[in-house]
Amino acid sequence: MRRIPSWPFCALPSIGGAVLTLMLVNPVVLPAQQWTPEIKNLKVLPEDTPPRQVVGIMRGFAIGLGVRCTYCHVGEEGAPLSTYDFASDEKLTKRKARVMLGMVQDINGKYLTELPTEHAAHEHAATTRLQVRCSTCHRGQPRPLTLAQALTAVIEEHGADSAVTYYRGLRERFYGRDTYDFSENSLNGLGYQLLGNTRPQDAVAVFRLNVEMYPESANPYDSLADGLKAVGDSAGALENYQKAFAIDPTMRGLQARIDSLLPTP
Ligand code: HEC
Ligand code: HEC
Repeated sequence: MRRIPSWPFCALPSIGGAVLTLMLVNPVVLPAQQWTPEIKNLKVLPEDTPPRQVVGIMRGFAIGLGVRCTYCHVGEEGAPLSTYDFASDEKLTKRKARVMLGMVQDINGKYLTELPTEHAAHEHAATTRLQVRCSTCHRGQPRPLTLAQALTAVIEEHGADSAVTYYRGLRERFYGRDTYDFSENSLNGLGYQLLGNTRPQDAVAVFRLNVEMYPESANPYDSLADGLKAVGDSAGALENYQKAFAIDPTMRGLQARIDSLLPTP
């Protein structure tokens, strides 16, 4: 996971992607000796936003997307921030981020403030309204993909084996973070999506991976069996339905699925 090690303000509390100035009740205050940018090119944030607040907001962007300043700004990684050209709009990502910033301001300022409150008991809700931040959607990645979406893209371009390798890498790097849902449901859902798209071989690869990750759980075996049945491997299907049964005999319809594959006497 990329952090921002060259960033001198890591010890400060994060304000996340808080972008509405009215939300900035606790602006990040930087120690006096540190670099303060000159601000010349704000188009969405109010032009008079104090430089240090801008930097605090930017830090929320970087953490929200799991990137460094250079993802959006012209500058050399590792070089002092004073050498960066933060005002430049050269990078497409900065221009995209500007649109995002406007979107987040609208969500928080226009839409969330218009949510009706129904009960008198809930009248305080307006003041405790949740705010959307960059991290709400991005969860530490530049394009907010779900695990299934990320793997689907790899399957389509490079095949299921590559997707399995990719999954292992993602799990290594992101397990325990907000970015991807590594519960058994993610791979299970992806597997059925592939089955539905008449890609049973790919589905089997994904179901096998899920069994490997969750060997103590019944459902991955049951799903793998469904996949194996779809590719015509009845013996493999039966074996995996039986494994599921051994873990959870109460699974709905499982006995019938087993019976349908048992040789008729
Ligand atoms: C995801 C993209 C993104 C990342 C990452 C990002 N910024 Fe920005 N930055 C922007 C956008 C967009 C603006 C312009 C905002 C506006 O127009 O209101 C901006 C503006 C600025 C400005 C004001 C420039 C000026 O002259 O108007 C500074 C300074 C700045 N960023 C510093 C940083 C620093 C330091 C980091 C790393 C911690 C960083 N940014 C990370 C998108 C980003
Ligand atoms: C409501 C959800 C949501 C929020 C909140 C949100 N984004 Fe995004 N953002 C997206 C989605 C979805 C995409 C992908 C669009 C696409 O490429 O199809 C995206 C794409 C981007 C990209 C382009 C990434 C790339 O590599 O092409 C940038 C940069 C970005 N967002 C910055 C931000 C910043 C900065 C914030 C906070 C100010 C933010 N986003 C808040 C949903 C969101």
